[in-house]
Amino acid sequence: MSDHTPVLVREVIELFHPKPGDVLLDATLGHGGHAKAFLDAAGSGAKVIGIDADEEALTVAKEKLKAFGDNVTYLKQNFAELPDVKVNAILFDLGIGSHQIADDARGFSFSSEGPLTMQYGAADSLPDANLEPINVLTRRLNHYPDASELLDFLSPMALADMVKEYGEERYAGVVGNAIAGGRPFASAKKLASVIEKAVPKFYEKGRIHPATRTFQALRLATNRELEVLESVLSIVAERLLPSGVLAVISFHSLEDRIVKHYFRKASAACICPIEQPICNCEYTPQLTILTKRPIIAGEEERERNPRSRSAKLRAARRRSP
Ligand SMILES: C[S@@+](CC[C@H](N)C(=O)[O-])C[C@H]1O[C@@H](n2cnc3c(N)ncnc32)[C@H](O)[C@@H]1O
Repeated sequence: MSDHTPVLVREVIELFHPKPGDVLLDATLGHGGHAKAFLDAAGSGAKVIGIDADEEALTVAKEKLKAFGDNVTYLKQNFAELPDVKVNAILFDLGIGSHQIADDARGFSFSSEGPLTMQYGAADSLPDANLEPINVLTRRLNHYPDASELLDFLSPMALADMVKEYGEERYAGVVGNAIAGGRPFASAKKLASVIEKAVPKFYEKGRIHPATRTFQALRLATNRELEVLESVLSIVAERLLPSGVLAVISFHSLEDRIVKHYFRKASAACICPIEQPICNCEYTPQLTILTKRPIIAGEEERERNPRSRSAKLRAARRRSP
């Protein structure tokens, strides 16, 4: 399996500033690159609790982190079910790893000829989707639909809504109709080609592949990534010890918007409606923002690792109760 090159490692470690004995909850362990940097920087007795829904990613992480023995705990689960612990640092490095894009059996890449599942791993319990037709389909199938089931069963209008909501695709109607006319979809390659033929020839002036936004939408809808992120952020500050640091790396504007709004709210002095003249919310902010603007990769990293070009890192510190 190809190795994943982690992004913004130095910047993340500077924010965590780990010390011996510190504990990191790495909610997206992947191949363990950030976790290893944390353990190396912290020194003796530091621990990592690493979560990933993807069995294969955990296998690679276990090999990479084996020198740290019992100081690393591996949890194969969705981070929606965040363990009830108190730690010094929490990291979300969201989305997909290059190991998953390279895996032909997942359908994450445009050229993939394997099954079109787009799932990180089986999930026991996910929040409701923002789009009701996906919830209706879930109840009908009695399981969380994978990508090919969404494509095969949603109506053209629901498909268009999905591509618009999760992909911000301006040709959502065209794409929804093309998908409905092209099913069934046994592979990502077929999906990419159906979309390429349906959208205008000079789609986005050739800046991105015509199926980029649809693939993003399908991945987000399949894994309910935005819904899971919103739900986990509502509880995450409780898992930090006083002065503990939360860091989130996002890769597209829909994710970053959710993170930015959460940080703003969790650090606000007051959450009364803006038109209310007297504050009566008695709100206690949980976090202090550490990154006024998101940190982005420097030129050298952008050159070396193209995936880092869309990465945005935001961090905040837990206030004392
Ligand atoms: C960008 S990679 C993380 C890479 C990692 N920081 C490293 O250094 O190798 C994201 C990982 O998070 C996992 N993931 C994404 N969403 C998840 C979720 N909701 N629950 C659990 N794991 C998730 C994916 O399976 C993937 O392995």
